[in-house]
Amino acid sequence: GALWVSSADGRIKGFDWQARDDASFKELMTRHGWVDVDASETNGYDGNEIKVKIVLASEERNEFFFPGFIEDTHIHAPQFPNVGLFGSSTLLDWLETYTFPVESGFGAQADQPNGTDKLPKDAPPSALRIYDQVVARTLSHGTTCASYFATVHVPATNALAALCHSRGQRAFIGRVCMDSPDFCPSYYKDLSADDSVSATRSTIEYIHTLDPKGTLVKPIVTPRFAPTCTRPALEGLGKLAAEFSPPLHIQTHISENMNEVALVKELFPESESYADVYDRYNLLTKRTILAHAVHLTPEERSLVRQRDAKISHCPASNSALGSGIAPVRAFLDEGITVGLGTDVSGGYSPSILEAARQACLVSRLLGHTTSFCKTEGKHAHENGHADKPTIGREKLSIEESLYLATRGGAAVVDMADDLGGFDEGMIWDAQLIELGGVPDLSKNPLETASNGASSLVKAGSVGNVDLFGTETWEEKIHKWVWSGDDRNVKAVWVAGRLAHSRS
Ligand code: GUN
Ligand code: FE
Repeated sequence: GALWVSSADGRIKGFDWQARDDASFKELMTRHGWVDVDASETNGYDGNEIKVKIVLASEERNEFFFPGFIEDTHIHAPQFPNVGLFGSSTLLDWLETYTFPVESGFGAQADQPNGTDKLPKDAPPSALRIYDQVVARTLSHGTTCASYFATVHVPATNALAALCHSRGQRAFIGRVCMDSPDFCPSYYKDLSADDSVSATRSTIEYIHTLDPKGTLVKPIVTPRFAPTCTRPALEGLGKLAAEFSPPLHIQTHISENMNEVALVKELFPESESYADVYDRYNLLTKRTILAHAVHLTPEERSLVRQRDAKISHCPASNSALGSGIAPVRAFLDEGITVGLGTDVSGGYSPSILEAARQACLVSRLLGHTTSFCKTEGKHAHENGHADKPTIGREKLSIEESLYLATRGGAAVVDMADDLGGFDEGMIWDAQLIELGGVPDLSKNPLETASNGASSLVKAGSVGNVDLFGTETWEEKIHKWVWSGDDRNVKAVWVAGRLAHSRS
């Protein structure tokens, strides 16, 4: 099959499924919803507009286009230097030992460690280097859109926005707010609630000047999480988001870890629940991304559903920090919108493909955990739903987790009409995936083995995914999810523009 993308606006103009006889690729893409079945088939040129024809899959070269990972719904750009460094810590001691120290380094020299000036004057060169590498790295893994947490520092946060804009990555940029002396270290915090709000406002103004229409880069209001924020800061940030039309997106963390949940209960005794803390301050909106949500109660899930707030599922991080397993099937069953997040550096990988893989893996373990059996599993049985087996249903299929990585992420940021699939009219945010070669039978494996050269794959093949020439497209996708990595990402486009190409 082939599709046509307009070079004028980067949108998909139509399909031409007759172009090749790769019916199985069309079947796969339509069955799992990456291409709308009703997308019209058109041909070539229309009026004056130049359209570029893109062949969706090539059997001979084992290449296929896939929607870009839209998006990484939760990632901390300043934590990249800490990827792989977390020992056996859990959330609260991890923040204190690893995370606050690395993030505090993104201010200007004069402001460290205790900051007498209200705001750092300039982004330090090390911050620019790290952020540039983050954007290049995430693009190279096929992430066409990311929702970033930066730090408290305005200049470095603005620099992250400028780097995404110039490299051509779609992004939400959050200046992190943390003003509470109860939890924030004295060397890394906002001076006051007013400071949290005014510094956020100044980043919003910068980003609105950088990209007035929000074509690529948008601001996102970012209270770090309830324990780092005072009530006046939460209130001010809720009001700030609502000042704009449409209201701004909001991101934060919720119910990641049991000790954190207990701490929130202690710090906000007047609130009915963790979710209620955010709801009281108008931070639980349809534009809110809640990261983790591992330990939400059924009542909190129902509130999240009512407010249409979105959940970022971060399975690699939840395993690495021993936080728990989020009940994604329950979220989906209850109608909550879910996307995938890497949560670098709670998560050890910048890859959303890895997040999709981990989402599958942890969902297969969920039925084995005692808390799950006690609540979800037994509950369903006791209510007479034994004919709908609950144990087993919690498993996510590969296609479902890829769906969360594409259409799910797009829905999380209210862009489901524009991004996440290859429907007519959608924007061309895409990645070209190339899998490994097929064994070369023209050579004698015994001879090549004896001289040390590999006979397994054709010269020039890349990555870790071996093909044997018998795979259906569905099987190729499965092999890609379980064994693929950034070596398989040949090129990446955002809004029709090339943003990464494998060197
Ligand atoms: N909760 C508050 N801050 C953080 C953070 O930086 N990462 C994660 N995973 N959880 C948090
Ligand atoms: Fe996080």
